[in-house]
Amino acid sequence: MNILSTSVLSADFSILGDQIRTVDHAGAQYIHIDVMDGLFVPSISYGMPVMRSIRKATAKVFDTHLMIERPERYIGAFADCGADIITFHLESTDRPAEVIEAIHSRGLKAGIAIKPKTPVEAFTPYLDTADMLLVMTVEPGFGGQSYLEACTGKIRAARDMADKSGRKIDIQVDGGVHRGNIDTVLDAGANVVVVGSAVFQNDIEENVRYFLNKLSLREV
Ligand code: DX5
Ligand code: ZN
Repeated sequence: MNILSTSVLSADFSILGDQIRTVDHAGAQYIHIDVMDGLFVPSISYGMPVMRSIRKATAKVFDTHLMIERPERYIGAFADCGADIITFHLESTDRPAEVIEAIHSRGLKAGIAIKPKTPVEAFTPYLDTADMLLVMTVEPGFGGQSYLEACTGKIRAARDMADKSGRKIDIQVDGGVHRGNIDTVLDAGANVVVVGSAVFQNDIEENVRYFLNKLSLREV
């Protein structure tokens, strides 16, 4: 199934609960929550208290994207705040296998992410255990950046690795996805698509419906 994961990083935080209810009611399946620590990425976003509050606004899947150094320190904390999926960066820890195990031990799905400059082969050791591979198509740290065309081949390669693994592994794409390139990422094999700024602008409901329609047209 193709899934739309709306990134609330581009939402209006003064009415965050309302904006999350809007994307929920319009049909978005996942709420993408970008956690940034100012170390792994230059910016600082939000963390546990915000997540606990918005957990009350929706029952949708919390797709948590950790852009933090040594995520092993916080798996329990984010699980306690209502995460359903926890994705961490392979560049952020020297013990990815243990982090995946910690996520699974809380009964959650584990995603592994790579930055644009990290080769897709970095996923290889974890194809037996990871539930989702996240191919970043912008440098992590900020919403509203332009999609890096050079990453399209990595989406294709990740899809190929997932298919050959014999397991059901989702391929997530995050960064710079908009109406003009959604077909490109779907063609390349993504099935979980993160959209931030292209959803949280103008008519949010209409934006969600547009992307959901695109995703369902590609359903096999
Ligand atoms: C970037 C974040 C993305 C970002 C997506 O570091 O991981 O989730 O918010 O926003 P857009 O769709 O605007 O690139
Ligand atoms: Zn993200």
